Amino acid sequence: MQCSWKAVILLALASIAIQYTAIRTLTSKPFQLCPVPSPQNCGLLGGPETESPIEGRAGCDDYPYFSFNASRKTHIMVLATTRSGSSFVGQLLNQHADIFYLFEPLYHVQTTLIPRLSHSRNAADRRVMLGASRDLLRSLYGCDLYFLESYIKPAPANHTTDKLFRRGASRALCSLPVCDAFGPTDANVEEGDCVKKCASLNMTLAADACRVKRHVAIKVVRVPEIGDLRALVEDPRLNIKVIQLVRDPRGILSSRIETFRDTYRLWRIWRATGRRPYNLDLSQLTVVCEDFLGSVSTGLSHPHWLKGKYMLVRYEDLSRNPLLKTMEIYDFLGLPMDKSVEEWIQTNTRGSTELSAKHKYGTVRDSAANAESWRLKLSYDMVEYTQATCHKVLHQLGYKAVKSAEELKNMSLSLVQDKTFVPFS
Ligand SMILES: *[C@@H]1O[C@H](CO)[C@@H](O)[C@H](O)[C@H]1NC(C)=O
Ligand SMILES: *[C@@H]1O[C@H](CO)[C@@H](O)[C@H](O)[C@H]1NC(C)=O
Ligand SMILES: *[C@@H]1O[C@H](CO)[C@@H](O)[C@H](O)[C@H]1NC(C)=O
Ligand SMILES: *[C@@H]1O[C@H](CO)[C@@H](O)[C@H](O)[C@H]1NC(C)=O
Repeated sequence: MQCSWKAVILLALASIAIQYTAIRTLTSKPFQLCPVPSPQNCGLLGGPETESPIEGRAGCDDYPYFSFNASRKTHIMVLATTRSGSSFVGQLLNQHADIFYLFEPLYHVQTTLIPRLSHSRNAADRRVMLGASRDLLRSLYGCDLYFLESYIKPAPANHTTDKLFRRGASRALCSLPVCDAFGPTDANVEEGDCVKKCASLNMTLAADACRVKRHVAIKVVRVPEIGDLRALVEDPRLNIKVIQLVRDPRGILSSRIETFRDTYRLWRIWRATGRRPYNLDLSQLTVVCEDFLGSVSTGLSHPHWLKGKYMLVRYEDLSRNPLLKTMEIYDFLGLPMDKSVEEWIQTNTRGSTELSAKHKYGTVRDSAANAESWRLKLSYDMVEYTQATCHKVLHQLGYKAVKSAEELKNMSLSLVQDKTFVPFS
């Protein structure tokens, strides 16, 4: 009988792999056709090289970043985990006039390939998901949005869809020429209004809008460790800069309990009754801490492949000093910060708490107060438990453990140690 369950698992894994292979084969334009740029194929240099047969030259025109040229596109990645403030950081990039921003496109990969296994620790699932994610990110950074269509359900017809995850979070997808529901002066379209008023998303227009922008930024919360991205970071056709966003795991836990009410139901029972349910899924916490530890250890050990491409940001530092931190981020990216980013920070870091209640997934809130509000929401034994489970990463990132309920609730004691994380240059 033992064989039978193994067979079921094998069958399930095989079917995921087959789906993925099918998606790869059926997608219109294999990315690999385009050659790696070099002065020989896409360069500006004249000379004998340009006379060599230039296969794939047309491909170079399809992918603007292949122009081997001083004003290359920057491919920005916000690498984070859910409820760590990544929407906030995403907005800091989304508001910039030269940046095309996408909110978590890997959502579609996950829901297509691994439904119902949102935090799968299964190594094979994880590999498939990562391979697919890297391929998709590579295509999206090249503005090939058609590639994403293979993962959208129902499948888009005539390259239009209503189902792009969080379309409304992307400014370029809610404004002209992609959406004509708003005029050029409607600077800050609400996410809900965008979804309500814009016609179906025309992916051809969206891809054109992406190509026109100087840079592309993508928020990613479904890649567990930065090491998983090495192939992408080293790809000479891309110019990737990773902003790794971290947050106190106690804050992440608290925020998830509030937001994902069904998935974190047992944690709420713990909080309400003071007793830890025996069937609590502890991996909901340990996975965050293990992935942070792995990822941050890699990032901070400064491997050669991340040189000039890595910056670690603590959400708490950003909350305390949004403008200054944002300037540091733009410095690291090598881009001038524009006025609209600054204005967005002014209006969105002083929002009232009422607003934040209305926007469960939103970013409008008093960011500084919000970053530490978990201390008033979690019980001391939950905090104690989290500290024990995550002590290594707390220490590494400079978050102080508390030793009593009094310390926990005394907001005049900061639990965020001053610690400087300089970008790896
Ligand atoms: C580099 O490419 C950009 C965009 O295609 C173009 O505007 C710019 O003039 C090019 N720079 C040089 C030095 O050729
Ligand atoms: C797609 O476009 C074709 C040709 O314009 C049209 O006949 C067809 O109805 C369209 N399909 C959908 C689902 O809109
Ligand atoms: C989407 O936009 C493209 C480019 O403007 C246009 O050619 C195409 O007809 C549009 N598709 C639909 C279904 O309207
Ligand atoms: C909170 O901490 C501050 C600073 O250590 C201390 O002075 C104060 O007495 C504490 N308040 C309470 C209620 O324990």
